[in-house]
Amino acid sequence: MATPVAELHMHIEGSLEPEQIYRLAERNRMDLPYKDIEDLKSRYEFSDLQSFLDLYFANMAVLRTAEDFADLTRAYFRRAAAAGVSHAEFFFNPQAHVVRGVPLTEVLDGIMDAVASSEREFGLSSSAIAAILRDQPVRDAEEIFSEIIRLQAPIVGLGLDSAEVGNPPSLFEDVFARARAEGLHVVAHAGEEGPPEYIWQALDILGAERIDHGVRALEDPALVERLVDEEIPLTVCPLSNVRLRVFDKLEDHPLRTMLDLGLIVTVNSDDPAYFGGYVDDNFAELGRAIGLTESERETLARNSIKASFASESRKAELL
Ligand code: ADE
Ligand code: ZN
Repeated sequence: MATPVAELHMHIEGSLEPEQIYRLAERNRMDLPYKDIEDLKSRYEFSDLQSFLDLYFANMAVLRTAEDFADLTRAYFRRAAAAGVSHAEFFFNPQAHVVRGVPLTEVLDGIMDAVASSEREFGLSSSAIAAILRDQPVRDAEEIFSEIIRLQAPIVGLGLDSAEVGNPPSLFEDVFARARAEGLHVVAHAGEEGPPEYIWQALDILGAERIDHGVRALEDPALVERLVDEEIPLTVCPLSNVRLRVFDKLEDHPLRTMLDLGLIVTVNSDDPAYFGGYVDDNFAELGRAIGLTESERETLARNSIKASFASESRKAELL
C-alpha cells in the first residue's frame, strides 16, 4: 500500500493479549478464573456483542496501575507500527476501571505517557478518545466526563461504546453537548448491532463526526444518502463483524458495496486481541475473502488519513 494507514477504531483494552493477561496477573499478584492460558484462549468464541463484552470486561481486571496501562498502550503501538499504521486514534473506557477501584489518574497517566512518546518510540502519532459506556447510567457518564475535564486529560474526543441495543445515543445528549463545548471531537458506535435509527441519533443528537461501525446504515437508503452527502466517515471493523456474528463470513461483508455507494469507509481492528488480528490482518483477510483491488486499498488508506483528527500538517505529511 503506497499511502500510510491510520487506525481510527480500536479499544486499547481490546488489545490485551492472553499472554499479557497472564503477565499482568502475576505482576499484580492476582488469580485468574481460568485453568491455564489454553483455557482462556478457548473462550474466544462469541455469539454476539454481549458475549464478547463479558470476557472483555472480565479480563481488564488485571489492569491496575499506570505502568500496566502504559505497557498495554505501548504493546499496541509496537504491533500497530508493524502493521503499517502511521497514526492511531484509540478508545479507552474510564468507567470500566474506576468502577473496579482503579483511580482515573492511574489510567490517564499510563495511557498518556505512551501517547506522548509514540512518535519518537514507534514512529506513529496517536491520540486517545474517552469512550462512554452506554449500558451504564447517564449520571455515571456525566461524572466521569467531569473528572476527565477537571484533570485536563489531553484526550482528542469523546466516544460511545458497549452494549448497543436498547441504549440509544439520545440518552447521552447532554454529555456529548458538553464535550463539543469543550472543543472535543465527537464519535459514536452506532449501527453495529443497533438499528439505523441510532446512526441518525448519533448524527443529529450527539453531533457525531464519525460513526464507528455503521454497517447497518445500508438498511436505510436515506441515511446512506446523508452519510455520502455529508462525507461522514464510517470506521468499519471487518474481522470484528464476523467474530461478533454481524455477518456470517467475511465473503458476506458489505465493505465493497459501501465503497461503491460512495461512503467514506475505513478499515480498523476494533479489539484485535479478541477478533483475530490487527489492521494488517484485516486487510489481508479482506484481500483473501473479497479480493480488494489496489485502488480500493488506496482509497481505504487515504480515507483513514483524511477521516482522522490528526493536525492538518500531520495529514499533509501522510497523504
Ligand atoms: N467495546 C469494545 N469493543 C466494542 C464493540 N465492538 N462494540 C461496542 N463496544 C465495544
Ligand atoms: Zn468498537
